[in-house]
Amino acid sequence: METIVFATNNPNKIREVQQLLGSNYQFLSLEEVGCQEELPETSPTLEGNALEKARYLLQNYHQDCFSEDTGLEVEALDGAPGVITARYAGAERDPDLNMQKLLRELAPFPNRKARFRTVIALLLKGEEYLFEGIVEGEISTELQGEDGFGYDPVFMPEGQSRTFAQMSKAEKNAISHRGRAIAKLQAFLEKQADHG
Ligand code: IMP
Repeated sequence: METIVFATNNPNKIREVQQLLGSNYQFLSLEEVGCQEELPETSPTLEGNALEKARYLLQNYHQDCFSEDTGLEVEALDGAPGVITARYAGAERDPDLNMQKLLRELAPFPNRKARFRTVIALLLKGEEYLFEGIVEGEISTELQGEDGFGYDPVFMPEGQSRTFAQMSKAEKNAISHRGRAIAKLQAFLEKQADHG
């Protein structure tokens, strides 16, 4: 079985990917390969950051790997917060402060269209691959729902009258940006395994 390092220490993310892709690959967390430092993320784009993190891992830990980067892109705010989604309201990365800032900035605009975009950078056998997952939607005018994380209480995916925070995990994963990017990664890795 081939091993691939997943640039995360979040056990839920590792478990989810292992369940989806587990039969041919074993996924290792950063901790499992002894990486304790913060990975570099200095690019102005999601693609750049995903690649930067994955290249750092390959150079320093010499293993096939993939990393992901996600941003919320709001149309009326010219794509902001984008790459700074996690620290929109400041370095403390506080989800409540981030959502408050977003609702404040967006208040003057009738256009509330937004999308979540995830980019996965896979470094496999010396080649680089990018996979993108997008979910279109709208920013609600107030927080709704208790589940999820980050901006879930204000993000209403297209065709839904509920926010991500009002959905079950399974419902959200089936349509989410990350779920869609992982599905593309899964399809690619399955094809690789078939040909290998
Ligand atoms: P990361 O690249 O996965 O760290 O995501 C960057 C930031 O985007 C996170 O800190 C969250 O604030 C936000 N984010 C990413 N995915 C989601 C999601 O599924 N729901 C809500 N917020 C998210």
